Amino acid sequence: MAYETILTDTRGRVGIITLNRPKALNALNLTVMDEVCGALAAFDADDKIGCIVITGSDKAFAAGADIKQMQPLSYQDTYAQDLFAGWDAATRTRKPVIAAVAGYALGGGCELAMMCDFIIAADNARFGQPEITLAVIPGMGGSQRLTRLVGKSKAMDMCLTGRMMDADEAERSGLASRVVPLADLMDTAMEAAEKIASFSLPAVMMAKEAVNRALETTLTEGLRFERRLFHSTFAFEDQKEGMSAFTEKRKPNFKHR
Ligand code: HXC
Repeated sequence: MAYETILTDTRGRVGIITLNRPKALNALNLTVMDEVCGALAAFDADDKIGCIVITGSDKAFAAGADIKQMQPLSYQDTYAQDLFAGWDAATRTRKPVIAAVAGYALGGGCELAMMCDFIIAADNARFGQPEITLAVIPGMGGSQRLTRLVGKSKAMDMCLTGRMMDADEAERSGLASRVVPLADLMDTAMEAAEKIASFSLPAVMMAKEAVNRALETTLTEGLRFERRLFHSTFAFEDQKEGMSAFTEKRKPNFKHR
């Protein structure tokens, strides 16, 4: 499939989406939104894929929603088109999605990274929600996902001052899961993705569903949900294979990958 603003590739069982508008630091216009969501849906539906990585360039994961495209819009326009609601489709991806972030992840760029299941940051990554400097506020989940990830105090600091967070602060705060040297970013992300894709896919998808549930419900309901999913993993052939392989001291050969 030929895209205008992204590149897609596969390596083994990993699907890779690379944001590719270098002249605009990968600013997220509506074409990028449609193409990223389309590529995610295609990888999600592809039996040969077990994990997805989204990345940008060394200079920018994405420097935000496309300010030039938004500048002339009226309230009527944004409300009528429900501007950016299309990104919700990205969060419906059932297979794991890793954000491999180098350089700027600002505004919508930070928000896209946070829609992914976890963020691996290069040491030059800079995260921020600078919308306030444009007299707008985050509109792709920044005020909600950032607050859940880093807590109220830091989220308020980021959204009200527009300051950027470096990679170490992002890791310390729980926004990024790990920080690696820029030169190692893709190898590290691919290694994690290949590891995930080597496991039994239904178990992987259930683990993702269970963790996400923690953000949506009470502890009691979340624990019940987790236990029921856990019980249901015993219906998988791969559960038998995984546990047999352990007792027989051999590598599992999962059928459902
Ligand atoms: C459109 C952008 C852009 C953006 C950069 N560019 N960010 N175009 N939308 N968000 C373009 C610039 O206009 C410029 O194009 C080219 O990319 C290179 O950018 P420079 O500014 O020249 O690069 P540099 O000096 O290195 O500065 C990098 C930067 C800066 C600090 C990241 O570009 C910047 O502050 N960008 C905007 C960041 C931002 O405010 N993001 C939030 C957007 S609002 P030309 O053609 O001039 O060379 C947002 C709303 C979300 O995301 C709410 C709902 C989703």
